[in-house]
Amino acid sequence: MKMELKTLPLSHPKTKPQDEGKLNFGQIFTDRMFVMEYQAGKGWHSARIEPYGPFSLDPASAVLHYAQEIFEGLKAYRHPDGKIALFRPADNIKRFNCSATRMCMPEVDEEFFLSAIKELVRLEADWVPHNEGTSLYIRPTMIATDPYLGVKPSDTYLCYVILSPVGAYYKGGFSPVKIWISDQFVRSAPGGTGEAKTGGNYAASLRASMEAAAKGFDQVLWLDAVERKYVEEVGSMNICFYLDGKVITSPLHGTILDGITRRAILTLIKDMGIEVEERALSVEEILEGARTGRLKEAFGTGTAAVVSPVGQFTYRDETVSVGDNQVGELTLKLYETLTGIQYGQRNDPHGWIELI
Ligand SMILES: Cc1ncc(COP(=O)(O)O)c(C=O)c1O
Repeated sequence: MKMELKTLPLSHPKTKPQDEGKLNFGQIFTDRMFVMEYQAGKGWHSARIEPYGPFSLDPASAVLHYAQEIFEGLKAYRHPDGKIALFRPADNIKRFNCSATRMCMPEVDEEFFLSAIKELVRLEADWVPHNEGTSLYIRPTMIATDPYLGVKPSDTYLCYVILSPVGAYYKGGFSPVKIWISDQFVRSAPGGTGEAKTGGNYAASLRASMEAAAKGFDQVLWLDAVERKYVEEVGSMNICFYLDGKVITSPLHGTILDGITRRAILTLIKDMGIEVEERALSVEEILEGARTGRLKEAFGTGTAAVVSPVGQFTYRDETVSVGDNQVGELTLKLYETLTGIQYGQRNDPHGWIELI
């Protein structure tokens, strides 16, 4: 039997941001949120859309101690005709369930969860901003709520979805970033949780990000945990290299996140007739490619930035530039094509857009 979705009344709507040019990322939240609860033996229940507000959690809740938690990130975009669109939302929900399985948490019913997210966005449609590059960020989350200090999977969970209007990522223009290649810190290891979207991965990445920022870099490039030799991801993005006329990116072997932007970008690259290789790529290959000019472009991919051009890599004492520190032609074309599809300004030949 399908679960019923209740919508509770909203008595005190908030004032919406007046100046969309001043919107940042993840600081403002809309009027409503989706919530459902899980109990072992009973399953998911009490699905509702209710006014946004704090939860009351037992201080012993499992999530607060052992981080049994997962989340997702996707966006709703306003199209020129005013309609609102999601980008491959079913992929995010599938990945949410993969993360749940890895973290011993219950799966959600994908069809129900997608319809609940759409209903929430529909109710909050006036919160989807209009300015170029802005969007409504959607954050599905699941947390373990058993008030128990033993290390074991919880019997109870809370799953919720909150929404946040976000500003354009590239306020100061589409410009290349400086990357620090860390051979000291790692983001994930084989057999670990790197391919799950779980909070602990991000907590563990903070120290390296802070050190990189203190040294004047924008992001950290993560290497594999075993040999500290092969490229994995950059910050919280996947990464692609345009080397010797091919685009090379790390394979999905359990330590990197299977990015939905990555999937779309690899498809667009193949559409352009450029060969894609998913294979291990060493730091030395990148440095040598940059030194000799064979590495034409490098860029990160992710929901937040869509495409993020890389201008420089620093590894130990050496700094190399990529494409003279300018935004490459392919990087720009991919950014324009994908954002054009997301914002409804271009055709969507692969059927990635789902209107609300
Ligand atoms: C670690 C990590 N890698 C890659 C990505 C890119 O994934 P997506 O394209 O689905 O946003 C994300 C999320 O944004 C991430 O957190």
